[in-house]
Order: sequence, then C-alpha cells, then structure tokens
Amino acid sequence: MSMRPNASADPELLEAILLVGGQGTRLRPLTIGMPKPLLPTAGVPFLAHQLARAATSGVTRVVLATAYRAEMFAECLGDGSAFGLEISYVHEEVPLGTGGAIRNAAAGLRSKPDSPVVVLNGDILSGHDLAAQLDLHCKDDAAVTLHLVEVPDPAPFGCVPTDSAGRVTAFLEKTPNPVTNRINAGCYVFRREVIDEIPAGRVASVERETFPALIDAGAVVLGYQDNSYWLDVGTPEAFVRGSCDLVLGRLRSAALPAVPGVPGEAMVLDGATVDARATVVGGTVVGTGAVIADGARVAGSVLFDGVRIGVNARISDSVIGRDAVIEAGVVLDGVVIGEGSRIAAGNELRAGMRVWPGVELGPTSIRFSTDT
Ligand code: GTP
Repeated sequence: MSMRPNASADPELLEAILLVGGQGTRLRPLTIGMPKPLLPTAGVPFLAHQLARAATSGVTRVVLATAYRAEMFAECLGDGSAFGLEISYVHEEVPLGTGGAIRNAAAGLRSKPDSPVVVLNGDILSGHDLAAQLDLHCKDDAAVTLHLVEVPDPAPFGCVPTDSAGRVTAFLEKTPNPVTNRINAGCYVFRREVIDEIPAGRVASVERETFPALIDAGAVVLGYQDNSYWLDVGTPEAFVRGSCDLVLGRLRSAALPAVPGVPGEAMVLDGATVDARATVVGGTVVGTGAVIADGARVAGSVLFDGVRIGVNARISDSVIGRDAVIEAGVVLDGVVIGEGSRIAAGNELRAGMRVWPGVELGPTSIRFSTDT
C-alpha cells in the first residue's frame, strides 16, 4: 500500500501538473498542426498514456499547463472523466518555460501547502513506479523528489549526481564527459509550497534555475532512481520507437485501444484496409481509414489516419502524416512525411528527411543510390 498525502483538505486528492505547452520543434512538421502531446501514439493521443498511468498511480486531478495550440487540449481530453480523472486547464499567454509554467499552473491547484504535487513533462513514456517515488518523497519530507534514470550515453543530456543518501548535489549542463550516467527523467514530486515559491509571471527553467536554487538554499532535493522503461519522445526517431514499443508490448499502457493481436507486430485500427499480400510488422500502427496495397511492406512505422501506401512500397522507421499518399514502389526509410503530401512512384527518401505538409514530390524527384 503506498503512502498517500495526508495533509490535504480532501484526503483522496492527489494532483499532478502536466507540462504540455512546448512547440515540439524537433518533431516538425508533425507538430505544425497538432501539439506533440496530442499526436496519435499507438492509436490514442500521446497524453492518454500518461493520464492512464497517472490515474493508476493514485492521481485524481490534473492541471494541464498549456501554451502552444492550447485550445486543442480541451477539445481532445475534455474534463478527464474518460480517464477517471478531473482535468483543468491553465493557459500561458506567453510560454513561461518549464519552471514558469509550473508556477503558473499553481493557480489551478487545490492541494494544501504541504501536500505532494506530481509534475510531468508531457513527452515522456515511462514505466517507473510513481507510487514508490511519492512514498520516498513523503517519507523523507523532501522539497522535491526527481525521477532519475540511467542511460547508456548521458552526453546529450544534463546529468544529475547524487550523494550517498540519495540527495541531488548538482544539475550539470551537457558535457562530453558527464560525471554520472544518471539524468533527469522529467517526473517530479514537489511539496506544493515549493511551487508557490517559484517567481511568478516570468520565464524560468526548473533545471537551470529552480532546482539549483533549492540545492543552494539547502532544501532536500531527492533523486528517486528507477531504470524501468523510459523514453523522451521529442525526436521523430524516438516518437516512432515509443509508438512501436507500446504496440509490441515493451511498455504496458492502460490507454492502449483494444485491437485484436495487440500487443503484437501491428495495430490496425478500425476502418483500415491491409491487403492480404502486404506485410505490416515491427509494432507499426495503421491509422483509421488507411489503405496498404498488395506487396507493400511496412515495418516499425506510424501511419496516421487516411494514409495510402501503394503497391510494393517499402516503408521502415517512418512517420506518415494524415491523408498522405505514398505511391507504388516508393522507398521510405527513417523519414517524416507531412499531412496530405504525395510521394510519387520512383522516389526513395532516407536518413532523416522531412517532407512538409501538402508537398507533392513528382516522379523520381529524389532518389538515393550507390551507383552513379
Ligand atoms: P522541442 O521544441 O522539440 O525541444 O520540444 P518542446 O517544446 O516540447 O520542449 P521540451 O521537450 O524541452 O519540453 C519538455 C516538456 O515541457 C514538454 O512536455 C513541453 O510541452 C513542456 N514545455 C516546454 N516549454 C514549456 C512552456 O513554456 N510552457 C509549458 N506550459 N510547457 C512547456
């Protein structure tokens, strides 16, 4: 039985702030029309996985900190009852950064000053034990308790060293020679009054300002290390991997739609048509109304609703936006295709290429070849 907050007026209340206001620039062009946390991921908006996870960990009420394309969140998620939660929305006219957004969202909280409040980055897939993180936070009466995860290569991240008692000693910027492979996993438990002390109405970063200032002031900032499944889906490669991992069952999610054969090689959503001689594998999602023709092979990819894949096309490790048309024999490997684009027969697109929404690539516009 996990330790629950006991200082709230409502003993059953456990609140979370979800940070969802970023522009998701690394995921463009997918995020031009839709914010990253709402992108379809294994058949549901990405946030559905986080909301389901929060609910099963005891969270009862969520404040969404919105900025970029704020109106789309309420349209998609409503009052949260579909997730067994209450959702309220706090909007930033000007994006305030992670620290400023948390402070701003405090206006929507009901928790008492000494209650724990969970804060989640809106682009993380995680299997870590949030209830255990909460327990540690409450047991040690910490100001903040951060989920830390060990990654094989911490160089692209800031790293977070801890002392023998598990207290965070510093937040170190990215460096080629990190002192630890432990990084900030983007899930925090704050004592509510610590959120209220963040300066209001201005841009602030939790990693660069809020946490270092707490450490300097001698506050208890704890690391909760848990090396369960963890992925930041901020890049196209990671987004595809996260979706595939959910379909393949590498991470369980209570929000996965009930589709026959899932977990398994492919999630084919209602109204999609896959020819009997096509191959769809590697955790691929085939969106509603999508069509995959005879002889096509689609591996480890995400096809949004209404996509059409032509005869004998070869698609791998790619994301294809809504209603895009991929003609016969096209090869796509590790690319992002924007909504409504058309890639004519004969094209081969590889290695991180991105096609903007509505673009038409004519016959053999682009071909990568080893023979000259
Ligand atoms: P990139 O532009 O590709 O770096 O993505 P991003 O805008 O999502 O930024 P980043 O991945 O660093 O953000 C981490 C989390 O914080 C994401 O869930 C963002 O939605 C959220 N976030 C970042 N900046 C803000 C902000 O100014 N306001 C709010 N409310 N959320 C933010």
